[in-house]
Amino acid sequence: MRPAATLLAPFSLACLVAAAPYALPPERETTLPAGPGAELVQAQCAACHSLDLVTTQPPAMGEAFWRKTVGKMVETYGADIPEDQQAAIIAYLAQTPIKAR
Ligand code: HEC
Repeated sequence: MRPAATLLAPFSLACLVAAAPYALPPERETTLPAGPGAELVQAQCAACHSLDLVTTQPPAMGEAFWRKTVGKMVETYGADIPEDQQAAIIAYLAQTPIKAR
């Protein structure tokens, strides 16, 4: 081991021990208000992550935000969602007041 690594080793160990002094809230089942598109969101938008990512966005973000976000899920993260379903999902998310519990 080189001297620099020897000096750093106890420090990195201390970092590991000190990490995360808080706990994340437990995962929970998230349900969406009923409406056209709700089931599509439930089916397509919880495949990779919790629906909490959707419901904890600021309220009333509007259509442009959701169009961009759904586009990012498809183009950047590779979500395989047919275009007609994307349109229904965007309409639902833009029009439905969704609150995180
Ligand atoms: C193919 C996997 C995948 C699918 C399907 C998916 N997402 Fe995501 N989503 C991600 C990833 C990866 C992230 C980034 C996670 C992180 O930052 O921890 C993300 C993050 C998000 C975020 C947080 C803000 C942001 O822009 O990063 C929102 C909101 C979101 N997704 C909404 C949706 C919605 C709405 C759908 C359904 C149309 C959806 N996701 C479907 C992969 C996916």
